[in-house]
Formats: sequence, C-alpha cells, structure tokens
Amino acid sequence: MALKLFRHARIYTPLMGGCPAAGDEQGKLAVYEDGCFLVEDGCFLAVGATRDVEGHLKGRAADREFDLGGAAVVPGFVDPHTHACFAALREEEFSMRLEGKSYLEILQAGGGILSSVRAVRSASDEALFAFSRSLLESTLLYGTTTIEIKSGYGLDVETELRMLRVIDRLGRETPQTVVPTFMGAHAVPEEFRGNPEGYVTLLREEMLPAVARQGIARFCDIFCEEGVFSVEQSRRVLERAREHGLRLKVHADEVHDLGGAVLAGELRAVSAEHLLAASDAGIEAMRRSGVVAVLLPATAYSLRKPFARARTMVEKGVPVALATDLNPGSCFCTSMPFVLSLAVMGMELTPEEALTGATLNAAWAVGTAHDAGSLEPGKMADFLVLDGETPAVFAYASGARPIKSVWKLGERVA
Ligand code: NIG
Ligand code: FE
Repeated sequence: MALKLFRHARIYTPLMGGCPAAGDEQGKLAVYEDGCFLVEDGCFLAVGATRDVEGHLKGRAADREFDLGGAAVVPGFVDPHTHACFAALREEEFSMRLEGKSYLEILQAGGGILSSVRAVRSASDEALFAFSRSLLESTLLYGTTTIEIKSGYGLDVETELRMLRVIDRLGRETPQTVVPTFMGAHAVPEEFRGNPEGYVTLLREEMLPAVARQGIARFCDIFCEEGVFSVEQSRRVLERAREHGLRLKVHADEVHDLGGAVLAGELRAVSAEHLLAASDAGIEAMRRSGVVAVLLPATAYSLRKPFARARTMVEKGVPVALATDLNPGSCFCTSMPFVLSLAVMGMELTPEEALTGATLNAAWAVGTAHDAGSLEPGKMADFLVLDGETPAVFAYASGARPIKSVWKLGERVA
C-alpha cells in the first residue's frame, strides 16, 4: 500500500498511557504546531515535528504528499455509546415529551423503547440494515470513525441475535469500525409485562448463552433504572454475561440514582454510562475501580435535564468519555461536534478534556484503545482535518460542522 505524507498540520492528540486518561491527564494533549505524519498500510508510521517524521522516510520518497495548509488535525471520533440499529424514528413521542410526558411514563405505557422493539421485530434484515447504514453515514460526516452499537430493540432470542448480525454487517460494509454490544436487557418486553424476573431468567439461561455462541458481541450492557431493571437484577445479568466472556457496561443513574454507578464499580465494569443522577458514592466507586464515565450531554439536552457532573468527575480522577447516545427516543443525535460543544459550554470541560473524552477515553470505553483514539505510530490512521486552528472550534463554531475532511485507515471517506 502507498506511503502517504501529510505536511503542515496543527496536530492535537492525546497520548496513549497504560489506562484511560484521568484527572489532569484528561486535558493534556500533544501539540505540533507545524506537524507532519506518515501513513502506511492504513496505519500511522510516524507523527510529530516535520524533521523527526521525515527521518522515518530513510531516503524513501512518499508515494503521495498532502499539504494541509495549517489546519488542525485531531483523531477521528470514537462514539462509545449508540443504539444506532433501529428501523423507524419516534418523532411523535418527542412531541409528547415537549408537551410534558416523561420518558419513563411513555415507556411504561408501552411506547418508547417498546415501540422501537415492535418496529425492529417486523423489519426485514435488509430494511434494518439500510436504515441503520443511513444513520452511520450521517455520523461519518460528523467525524465518527469508530462507533459502538448496542442491540436491545429485539428483546427476544431470535431478534437480538438478528440485530447483532446486522450490527456486524454494518462493521463490514461501512467505512467505520463497529463495536457490537449486546443489550437484551434494554427493557422488559411486552410478553413479560409484570414478570421482569421471568425475563431476567430468559436473559441468563437462554439469551446470553446464545449470544456467546454466536460470537459477535464484545460487551453486555443493561438499563439499570427505576421501573426497568433493579441493581440486583442488573448484577445477576452482568455476572452471567461475564461468565460468558463479555465485558461489562451499565446504563447507570440516568434518571434516578439507583446505585448503578456503585454497581459498575463493584463489578469492575469497563464503563458506566449516562450518570445524570450519579451520587458522590457512585463517582467514588467508579474512581476506585477505574470505570470510564461515558457521558451523553445531548441526551440531557434532549430530555431537558441537568447535565452530568463532568467537572466533579474529572476533578475526582474518573476518566470521562463522551458519546452521542444516538437512538430514536431519548436522543436522536448523530453529531459528535454537537456533543463536544455541549461538553464545553454546558459541562464546563475544557476543549482539550472534551477531545480526549471523544477520542482516546472513548476508545478505552469500547476496548479499542490499542488501535484507535490517538494519532500515534501503529494505530489506525483515522483522523479529521478541521476547519479551524484548535479543538476549541467545536464549541466556537456552534451548530456547525467544522470538519474539512474525514479520513479512515489513511483514506479520505468524507
Ligand atoms: O440511552 N436509556 C435507555 N436507552 C436509551 C434510549 C433508547 C430509546 O429510547 O430508544 C438511552 O437513552
Ligand atoms: Fe443508551
């Protein structure tokens, strides 16, 4: 494959350490004002000051050279929390929420997630794939080069396995790297209304073994929330998931502080996600166990709730990642730049902390930090050329898409 040399880039990147960046580390970026990088076989060969990078050529000529004209270059976004596999939108429900119905009320009345379940169960594989692919195309335009996608609109063995196959196909047939998460514990399906224990048994005894046999899912997630799954039920599902070789995530303390973050700490989950209502004890439990806090400010925005306490988490030493939560209900958002701008303007993260959250810490949260999330030799050459000089442009150019081009594995894809 061709050797490509990129010159005159203002490079901003977090640097890989042995664990997710926490505390002061979250805001530290390597910066090369007149930087340069070399890409070979889809991976970075060298990144840094022009003279050092040219040294890596060892007399070879690059097959192609690109002059980036002083534009900022950052890692491609890693979106570590989405439900981007669904078959229909729920705009009507959004209007109901604007009129005062709450998200959980709509779910309890058989709408919300359950209405997406009906749509996915009756969609063909092809229709589900086509709808989801169009969502991924939008995320790619906004700079997402790696994306986690959760199942969880099937809620029966057959449809959950089918969703995971569609998610796997998205990874093979779109430019993006896709990380599949099994989330059969997204809600209690209508067939088990009033009998959540029956559904927990199905999850433990049938679904998880079948998901493990299928071999596609890398993580297991659960919606630990009042009226959905209790902390005890979540623990039993997640423990079984771990026995089947899946790594753990928790939708924790999104609406009520049930103790989901504490549970994530006890189980040493890779991440706890949402955390709008997380308590001090939850934050401390996460810090102790090195759990990544995946924050979703566009969901708080769309639910008209206060943002998660990102500053407190950073100051206490919890590694923070940022995600869109792209889904048809609580947050129909495909834009990581919008998430970064909310993180800076609404959660008071610095632009540097937000960038680490949307790249390297996000990669840790989905188990891909070894090959994504920063501009470093050996990693996938996934990067964004910005229409701006610093990562602050995501907050500065509010509502815009300050991205000139998106590159995946060294190829321009948008
Ligand atoms: O992360 N909270 C649960 N799950 C999603 C919403 C899914 C939906 O409403 O379809 C979330 O907000
Ligand atoms: Fe979610």
